[in-house]
Amino acid sequence: MDQASHHSCISGLEDPEKVHIRVPRLEDGAAMWKLVKQSRLLEQNTCYAYLLLCRHFADTCLIAEDAGRAIGFVAAYRPPVEPDVIFVWQIGVLLEARGRGLASTLLEHLVATPACANVNYLEATVAPSNTASQRLFAGFARRRSVPCARMPGFSKELFVGGEHEDEELFRIGPLQS
Ligand SMILES: CC(C)(COP(=O)(O)OP(=O)(O)OC[C@H]1O[C@@H](n2cnc3c(N)ncnc32)[C@H](O)[C@@H]1OP(=O)(O)O)[C@@H](O)C(=O)NCCC(=O)NCCS
Repeated sequence: MDQASHHSCISGLEDPEKVHIRVPRLEDGAAMWKLVKQSRLLEQNTCYAYLLLCRHFADTCLIAEDAGRAIGFVAAYRPPVEPDVIFVWQIGVLLEARGRGLASTLLEHLVATPACANVNYLEATVAPSNTASQRLFAGFARRRSVPCARMPGFSKELFVGGEHEDEELFRIGPLQS
């Protein structure tokens, strides 16, 4: 698969040919920040953090555009201590584009990129109240017929302020057949 840019076939989207999935450029950092802000559920980080992703981790991040407008993104990285893992840090889809398979497609494209060639597990942490996110990762595992192990990730005591939920770790794989 061409890592730099490709069009996706997203079943259910009105015009799948118009949705363009590609690795982000530095100029996309602000769009990722705005998608996080609009999601209302994702934790807002600084714009600088998304610029860092675009500069240093672009090969494991993707942005989806519809007629030039950013409608979804996934930010992921390869943990240095776990070389067979792709860790999905944040994934978000614009409210009006949800429920049409875009996030699932972003995950499929992510694991198919050259940067994930030797990845065997996809990991993410999910809050117990985030049903859509749980279904997203469970569905990814189900379509590949691989286990989705769930275990403690970050407990709420680790966060500042006392209002954060526990984050459960989803570990999906093995992905290599
Ligand atoms: C989670 C999110 C990225 C899913 O995006 P999406 O493009 O709508 O997801 P998909 O259409 O690929 O659907 C993925 C699965 O979730 C399910 N789903 C989607 N929205 C749902 C909702 N609101 N409630 C329950 N299930 C939902 C779908 O039915 C599908 O499950 P299936 O494969 O069993 O049918 C999107 O809801 C979002 O941006 N949420 C806010 C940000 C967030 O919570 N990100 C995840 C935490 S890192």
